[in-house]
Amino acid sequence: MVTCALPYANGPVHIGHLAGVYVPADIYVRYLRMRGEEVLYVCGSDEHGVPITIKARQQGCTPQDIVDKYHKIIDESFKSLGIKFDIYGRTSSKIHEETASEFFKKLYDEGKFITKESEQYFDPEANTFLADRYIVGTCPKCGAEGAYGDQCEKCGCTLSPEELINPKSKLSGAAPIKKKTTHWYLPLEQYEQWLREWILEGHKEWRPNVYGQVKSWLDGGLQPRAVTRDLEWGVPVPVEGAEGKVLYVWFDAPIGYISNTKELLPNDWEKWWKSEDTRLVHFIGKDNIVFHCIVFPSMLKAYGGYVLPENVPANEFLNLEGDKISTSKGWAVWAHEYVQDFPGKEDALRYVLTANAPETKDNDFSWKDFQTRNNSELVAIFGNFVNRAVVLTHKYFGGKVPACGELQQIDRDVLAEIPAIRESLEKNIENYKFREALKDAMNLARLGNKYISDTEPWKVAKTDMDRTATILNISLQLCASLAIAFEPFTPFAAERLRKMIDSPLDWNMLGKEEILTPGHQLQAAELLFTKIEDAEIDRQLERLAAIRAEREAAEKAEAAKMVSPQKAECSFEDFEKMDIRTATVLEAVKVPKTDKLLKLTIDTGIDKRTIVSGIAEYYTPEDMIGKQICILANLKPRIIRGIESHGMILMAKQGDGKMRFVTPQETLANGAEIG
Ligand code: 2FM
Ligand code: ZN
Repeated sequence: MVTCALPYANGPVHIGHLAGVYVPADIYVRYLRMRGEEVLYVCGSDEHGVPITIKARQQGCTPQDIVDKYHKIIDESFKSLGIKFDIYGRTSSKIHEETASEFFKKLYDEGKFITKESEQYFDPEANTFLADRYIVGTCPKCGAEGAYGDQCEKCGCTLSPEELINPKSKLSGAAPIKKKTTHWYLPLEQYEQWLREWILEGHKEWRPNVYGQVKSWLDGGLQPRAVTRDLEWGVPVPVEGAEGKVLYVWFDAPIGYISNTKELLPNDWEKWWKSEDTRLVHFIGKDNIVFHCIVFPSMLKAYGGYVLPENVPANEFLNLEGDKISTSKGWAVWAHEYVQDFPGKEDALRYVLTANAPETKDNDFSWKDFQTRNNSELVAIFGNFVNRAVVLTHKYFGGKVPACGELQQIDRDVLAEIPAIRESLEKNIENYKFREALKDAMNLARLGNKYISDTEPWKVAKTDMDRTATILNISLQLCASLAIAFEPFTPFAAERLRKMIDSPLDWNMLGKEEILTPGHQLQAAELLFTKIEDAEIDRQLERLAAIRAEREAAEKAEAAKMVSPQKAECSFEDFEKMDIRTATVLEAVKVPKTDKLLKLTIDTGIDKRTIVSGIAEYYTPEDMIGKQICILANLKPRIIRGIESHGMILMAKQGDGKMRFVTPQETLANGAEIG
């Protein structure tokens, strides 16, 4: 039973999701299936939760409209990339509501929950409780407006609604009040000892990032977790007195794995979830570890009778061109756009996302690396080898697999390498090391490509047809092995290759010396991969550059609005001490060996004097000459870089740091007093 994290249906999926969860799971499932294992592969949309309700409100539609739209987009993009679940269900389905309700009800009836009363924020105008995301205010840490009750997106800090300055409801704008409410909690602390034994003792083989996160949660001590919320969108809490409450999205979502199985196999689902010989594996991203390793297993344990995950191979995150992928900032490569922009190149994305998979640490996707890996690995090694072998077979042997004659040392050397590659490939996939497994598969292609380059059958054919036959036989057997080895990674190319080979293949044949019998007729050669041109990559880079520029402009505009706090009070006498006047710049030169300083000669109306000012970042000497400005005339002279500066130019500085002159509305006589 293989599950993939149910993606939230409030946006399309991007390469981060694909690399983190769906491509590795798909490799694993395809591999198991080729080995003849019985596998059920389940996913679906996660259609509840507060962000979906916020998006619906922003767009003036219902949450159901939002999830309908994205469910379809996500479902199609998975299919188009060859990620074919047995079922891609949804948590707004009837069977899910029934399954999640029943799950809750059983735990409720058996007293597995505790209830707690707490004070929650409430919108007195909209007459509803407010999720943290529905409360906005000023960030106490960085002063940004519009920080959410759970997080400030400006500085990234985690917040609670209590910390916001001047909190307001996003619904009505009213100041929220605190109101008592009761919720059901799963007392996780009761499962702590059991979790310790099951995971910390029993699953030391889990990935270090997963094991480490679990350990740190357990060492920190588990607390009861609320499993209900005051919200309208979700699975209604199926007990009396719970009107206006729904199951917390993280309670119902993992039950979605079960309800989707039920939807597919109404009479047969239990064997996948309840029989002892089921192996359950959850593919997820690192932000989901606690839910899949602590909360959901505790729910299953509390319910009883379910199998527990044998492994939870969680990946770290993928970045894009050095920056964190962000749906809200549009910094992503969307799966559905990729398949439109690169038709027929689904495998290239699968390949690159696996080669760079963030298995042990965060990793980066860059378009240049994508192009290089496609052109110099898939095309130049794997594709090139297969093409040479098949085309030459057609040329010299009418497309029939030629017989293998006497072996030479080079043949024996190549054949001797294959078993170890196969063994490593299998071990790596079985240990969830998909990057390494892909390297193994690629090494097989490399081996073939080098063999055919070294033996040069196109030259040998001029003099020795028997030897040519042997070389091509060995090459074609390797092509057949590649069709097997690459099926989990690049299924579209593997399918094309299988068509060319036109002979049944299964995993057990991988590496065998006679997969194809002499005389077997091949189909016409077809290119496995095609090059990606610079222009295609440039288009993608330009699109990202435009997004980056837009974001930077928005950040600058936002910063410009930030106002520094008022200074401490001063007296009228303090103010009167300052002699502020109009003046005109006569000359301006840069102070040598500095970036910021200009030496200005000023006509103050009283005298002509020198002022050194730190404005060279914003104004050139030419900008300054002839300008009327305002100065503080009686500032005590100071020596700056060896120059006596007498006075100070008044500048206005806004949040973006840029300085601008303060000039009179109309030109005045120099020396006019300001006050
Ligand atoms: O983090 C997420 O995208 C969640 N929607 C994953 C849910 S996984 C499962 F529990 F449903
Ligand atoms: Zn902040």
